[in-house]
Amino acid sequence: MNILQLVNAENPYRGALTLAELAPVCGSAVCLWGPAAAALHALLAELDAAGRIMPVSGWRSAAEQQALWDGSMAENGPAFTQSYVARPGCSEHQTGLAIDLALRRDGVPVDLIRPDFPADGVCGAFRRCAAAYGFVLRYPAGKEDVTGIAHEPWHFRYVGAPHAARMAAAGLCLEEYLHAAR
Ligand code: DAL
Ligand code: ZN
Repeated sequence: MNILQLVNAENPYRGALTLAELAPVCGSAVCLWGPAAAALHALLAELDAAGRIMPVSGWRSAAEQQALWDGSMAENGPAFTQSYVARPGCSEHQTGLAIDLALRRDGVPVDLIRPDFPADGVCGAFRRCAAAYGFVLRYPAGKEDVTGIAHEPWHFRYVGAPHAARMAAAGLCLEEYLHAAR
């Protein structure tokens, strides 16, 4: 597994992840690459957040990304879809290294494209601790022109703790981090 693999509109997913490498996140139907699932589990345990922060979407097949894209195009139109849904074949959810999370709100349905992940409370604590467990906020505010995706407070990417610490300290998104390392 190349944990720094870049997947975006210019860089389609070319990995060879197998289903055997995936593991469920906190007993849910949402799966991640095994070590990333373990790191997320450890982070949620550290924050005692397992029941309060819910996994919404992790690994996706190409067909699932296509269905998400098609459904959003029909329901929300191209401007919204191009902002919040990666083109089929170009989603890092296909790597098994990306996770969408939501704050559990009893009785409130979860938005599957833009889950609610507030900046404060347990979600804020998650954001502050994420890098220590190898996760970065993949689509930060202010980096839309670099990532090609709107700010997504709910979408975290596993890159491993050493890289996550450097990216967080320098305020670099993955595209910038990889460019700086060249
Ligand atoms: N929401 C992100 C960009 C995706 O669809 O992969
Ligand atoms: Zn996502």
